[in-house]
Amino acid sequence: MTKVFIQTYGCQMNVADSDEMFAHLASRGAQYTENLDEADIALINTCTVRDHAEHRAVSFLGRLAAWKQEKPGRVIIFAGCAAQRLGKNLQKKYPFLDIISGAKEIEHFADTLDASGLFNAPGKDTHQLASGLTGYVTIMRGCNFACSYCIVPSVRGPVKCLPAEDILADAAQKAQAGAKEIMLLGQTVNAYQFENTSFADLLNQVSRLPGVERIRFTSPHPIYFTPEFLDAIKDNPKIARHVHLPVQSGSTKVLQEMKRGYTREIFLEKVRALKSCGFNISTDIIVGFPTETEDDFKETLSLVDEAEFFAAYCFKYSPRQGTPAAKMKLLPQNILEERLDILLNKVRGLSDAAYQAQVGSVQEVLLESENKGRASGNFWVKTRKSYPVGSVIKTSIEKADGTLLFARD
Ligand code: 5AD
Ligand code: SF4
Repeated sequence: MTKVFIQTYGCQMNVADSDEMFAHLASRGAQYTENLDEADIALINTCTVRDHAEHRAVSFLGRLAAWKQEKPGRVIIFAGCAAQRLGKNLQKKYPFLDIISGAKEIEHFADTLDASGLFNAPGKDTHQLASGLTGYVTIMRGCNFACSYCIVPSVRGPVKCLPAEDILADAAQKAQAGAKEIMLLGQTVNAYQFENTSFADLLNQVSRLPGVERIRFTSPHPIYFTPEFLDAIKDNPKIARHVHLPVQSGSTKVLQEMKRGYTREIFLEKVRALKSCGFNISTDIIVGFPTETEDDFKETLSLVDEAEFFAAYCFKYSPRQGTPAAKMKLLPQNILEERLDILLNKVRGLSDAAYQAQVGSVQEVLLESENKGRASGNFWVKTRKSYPVGSVIKTSIEKADGTLLFARD
């Protein structure tokens, strides 16, 4: 039996892509292992959104030289976004690398395996990963935006929405295998439209599948949260009340230069509309975009106050080759570091405050272990009694401690 070790970098799309690639390997006889030493195949699924992410993936590849030397029959597969960007250049630098499969080629991954001559012919049906409590379902690939700092459109290509029928079949299969929560994935997930099925239709349809208790989705783009969308989903309690909604900057001027397609005011309007439907909002912020002035940065700080985010992931701007922003003059690193520090200090207490605000509320909790689960708004909740994993309970909250709510159940 050949064994495959998988190292995944980056976003949840990549986690789902790794599952998909593993399925193809498993149907060719491979078994999953968490132990690199006993593996015959190493699959590295990579990210290139920031230089640091790409660097980590490539250094891991470098470290595999010795692993391969130990047993020359071992196979190394380098896949995903960094593989797409670096392409064939990698083969020159890492001649021991067997297969390169870029993010755009995921649909042809099975053909790539077969063309390599390194694997058996695919067999039947051994390939389903046991679903955890959350089943990841990719509903669209690629991105039609062209944010000036972002490399994703070039490594993942334009949007391609999967047929609604296939998505429902995938989600149903995962629910049947034990997933209670379905996470719909796409780079701009709420831009989904396939023939007559909109994103709101899809959410409502998935929520009606037997066994599905809750639906999450990531990552949406602010402009697709229209009043019509909110109207279509607001009465569906299975749609989790948490969205990760990247803002990137609080300055309208910088947002325009980033080509985000919205202003500060429009973003805040979306936040208010989502909050009025009970959504809890987290975000991504980039500091030190080349044209960001001290005043622009202050606008980001004030937006954080106004939006009352649940959490914010903050990144230093990283120039990506081939993107329009990469041609602009960089700000000095010390300014980026200073701004990141100030922002991190500001966002540090956000989650604690959001947790504290839940005391006295009633929450529906999906149990991820016997005594702990997640509320619809993504808060962690500790229960007094024990429940079967995967069950959903309704309870009031008696206190909060840091990022944990304590149930009165
Ligand atoms: N530099 C820094 N951060 C970036 N992101 C995307 N591109 C860059 C870049 N060039 C961040 C954005 C995005 C998250 C996934 O990564 O905040 O939402
Ligand atoms: Fe990148 Fe913008 Fe597309 Fe998000 S919406 S993947 S930031 S280009």
